Amino acid sequence: MNKAEIPLAQRDALGLMLDDHSRIKHLFKAFSREKDAETREAIAHEACLTLTVVAQIEEELFYPHVRARNETAFGHLIDKAMVEHSCIRSLIAQIQGMTSEDRLFHAKVAVLGELTSHHVNGEEGELYPKLIVMNEDLRDIGARMRQRKEEITIEAHIA
Ligand SMILES: [Fe+2]
Repeated sequence: MNKAEIPLAQRDALGLMLDDHSRIKHLFKAFSREKDAETREAIAHEACLTLTVVAQIEEELFYPHVRARNETAFGHLIDKAMVEHSCIRSLIAQIQGMTSEDRLFHAKVAVLGELTSHHVNGEEGELYPKLIVMNEDLRDIGARMRQRKEEITIEAHIA
């Protein structure tokens, strides 16, 4: 999905998530190519952190907003996204407690990458186009998401 083609009413909110999605995709690709164990571990943990932040913003602000706008149109897509998030979170928690020495580390990161790619394709291929077609005004929620992202990112780096 090309950010420049998104109408202004949706661009800020969707653009914020698109940027994170492409960063996450890039990290999983880098992980699969990297040979050095320590670097692979650092890339995996970076991907987990980026995913955690965007998932939190979606769950706190974006999903409830979209659901409240139109349960009939969006409820089912949000339900699916929430279930996918819970699988993603569970894998992230397992990976964060591991090092690349652990036997299943690489398999878990690979499965997390596949699951995330499926999830992101659902959002970018189904949910976002529907929000655009239905011309949902996402400007206010977009601004709140951006502000929340700054707060969470600061908290995450302090923790
Ligand atoms: Fe998501």
